[in-house]
Amino acid sequence: MQERLEEIRSQALEAIKSASSDKDLENIKVRVLGRKGEVTLVLKAIGKLSAEERPKVGLLANRLKKDLEAAINARKKALKDVHVSTFIPGLDPTLPGRQRRLGRLHPITQVMNQICAVFERMGFIVVQGPEVELDFYNFEALNIPPDHPARDMQDTFYIDDKVLLRTHTSPIQIRAMERQQPPIRVIAPGKVYRCDSDITHTPMFHQVEGLMVDRDVSFAGLKGVLTAFVQQIFDSNTLVRFRPSFFPFTEPSAEIDIQCVICKGKGCRICSQTGWLEVLGAGMVHPEVFRHVGYDTEEFSGFAFGLGVERIAMLKFGIDDIRLFYDNDLRFLHQF
Ligand code: FA5
Repeated sequence: MQERLEEIRSQALEAIKSASSDKDLENIKVRVLGRKGEVTLVLKAIGKLSAEERPKVGLLANRLKKDLEAAINARKKALKDVHVSTFIPGLDPTLPGRQRRLGRLHPITQVMNQICAVFERMGFIVVQGPEVELDFYNFEALNIPPDHPARDMQDTFYIDDKVLLRTHTSPIQIRAMERQQPPIRVIAPGKVYRCDSDITHTPMFHQVEGLMVDRDVSFAGLKGVLTAFVQQIFDSNTLVRFRPSFFPFTEPSAEIDIQCVICKGKGCRICSQTGWLEVLGAGMVHPEVFRHVGYDTEEFSGFAFGLGVERIAMLKFGIDDIRLFYDNDLRFLHQF
């Protein structure tokens, strides 16, 4: 009987090897392992053997059963792979797969998200406003009347006399204050547009505006918030300098410089040998702005600030030409 089992094994393995379809394999399975199959018949006849031979043959028959099942499954898998390559000419399923390049967030989006996250941790809420804006919100309500020379500070893309592409995110301050009474603590990220182009300026860029209004909001609060912001975005040791400046919608106004991140204050080409880099504009909200939105200037005070996102990204990543962000060169973008 042991010889019979060996015979079944070699014939079955030969048949499995030359099977060319799942159906062939199924037939072999029925013929050898089925209810009336060759191995089953051997197992059924075991009872007639001597007590000594019975366990030996039983063991061999069961092992054969397992081996043949494994051989049938392996052949099935091999046939499947062959089928793929026969149906798709030129496809070799044994080759390792090609790695797909994953997309990722644009560096400006990454920095924008980081900036918003820092202010959100300080309790600021994100609000938005339209990119196509009324002259009223972009200029007039911000204390910049039609003939005011401050309009020359920003080269504007006009759509008609009253409509323009917003030149900064400050109009969102006005829209936020029109919507609600103090206390107010918002940031407004978004695209802005100016007729401007060189290695540090693009016609479209991003700003983040901040506004906080409540009773007893002070310049000291503004310094605290912006110093904490700079030290979280750059390094916790980064030095910050508040320099008097002018914006029509804030009084007093300041520009905020950080110690040059490239030369650490020693003076280099990037900081024009000054050791400092300007990153923010800010100030206490001008009473005239509060009057436009009907806030009581005796009761409330507030501060506002605005920053250029590209400028922060350039400093963080050590990039000296802003236009690289918008050339869409994947070799550049993949580095972030
Ligand atoms: C303003 O736009 C004010 N609205 C900021 C402000 C808000 C002051 C609230 C006070 C209170 P400024 O024109 O300086 O300010 O622009 C702010 C920043 O935008 C600049 O520091 C600079 O980083 C960036 N920026 C200005 N023009 C461009 C440009 N063409 N391309 C890229 N970034 C620019």
